[in-house]
Amino acid sequence: MSDTPANTDPEQSLTWVPKASVIARDAGAQLRQFLAQGVATEYKGDVDLVTIADRTVEKFIRARLGEVFPEHGIYGEEGTRDRMEGEFRWYVDPLDGTTNFAHSYPQFCVSMGLEHRPKGLAADQDGTLVSAVIYDPMRDELFAAERGRGATLNGKPMRVSKTPELAESLISTGFPSRKRHESPNVHFYQEFTLRSHGVRRAGSAALDLAYVASGRLEAFWEFNLNPWDTAAGILLVLEAGGTVTSFAGAPFRLDSREILASNGLIGAELVALFQNMFAGRDLTPIPTPAEFARHRTERDALAK
Ligand code: IPD
Ligand code: CA
Ligand code: CA
Repeated sequence: MSDTPANTDPEQSLTWVPKASVIARDAGAQLRQFLAQGVATEYKGDVDLVTIADRTVEKFIRARLGEVFPEHGIYGEEGTRDRMEGEFRWYVDPLDGTTNFAHSYPQFCVSMGLEHRPKGLAADQDGTLVSAVIYDPMRDELFAAERGRGATLNGKPMRVSKTPELAESLISTGFPSRKRHESPNVHFYQEFTLRSHGVRRAGSAALDLAYVASGRLEAFWEFNLNPWDTAAGILLVLEAGGTVTSFAGAPFRLDSREILASNGLIGAELVALFQNMFAGRDLTPIPTPAEFARHRTERDALAK
């Protein structure tokens, strides 16, 4: 019999998570340092922010992934496109939640999701998500998963919530930083707020997905995300027992313009609501600010 104690850390027996976790934690430590020292903010578009932290940490992750998985491809938000023909591809967001970070609002993370792309797969076809690591450096929370092996939070198994109805759910969404005037999402935000315990808008899509996976939220939806925002979080949700689809309930694709993740139990209710709202139904009338001001003036006059 061996003297070596049995390995009780479920993460250590996984294929990619142990090495990827070290990289994500080191990247997160860099984000913490940048936050402490303060960084200047630049604009990528009208209101789309980027900082030296986004670029430096992507460079760091790129170098470290290249060392430990030299054959893997890397597709990063800040422009990395390495070995795109490879059989494995990491989708990397070095800093998900840049706007929060730039304002020292402590809700942001490092997100790394690994896709297996068998030889012969067309460029526009999805492979299979096989590994995921999301690290929140402010709470020291590491969310991880591998396909078929379940999902963990700081090494402990995590599952989606068992809440069966939207009316008892806490859910979340996000709003794009580009072309904001074209987004209809405020209508969904309003309607879902009226029908649930509330809708959070915390500013990091990857953490939103990790929170669905860990049972803190029942669902998350957003328009126009990119694979670096979603790849890791999708696998976390699936491995924690949830579902990820389009707003119509169709299987999710990495280049999809819409994502709906849930604990599985409230997914159908949300899909029905999306369908009705896109068809112009199920919109609860709310007073306009002008109507509200008029009623307030009338009420105040009556009270005198
Ligand atoms: C953003 C965040 C945010 C979401 C935006 C994303 P970034 O990513 O995930 O929650 O609402 O759509 O672009 O730019 O901070 O990496
Ligand atoms: Ca992002
Ligand atoms: Ca980012």
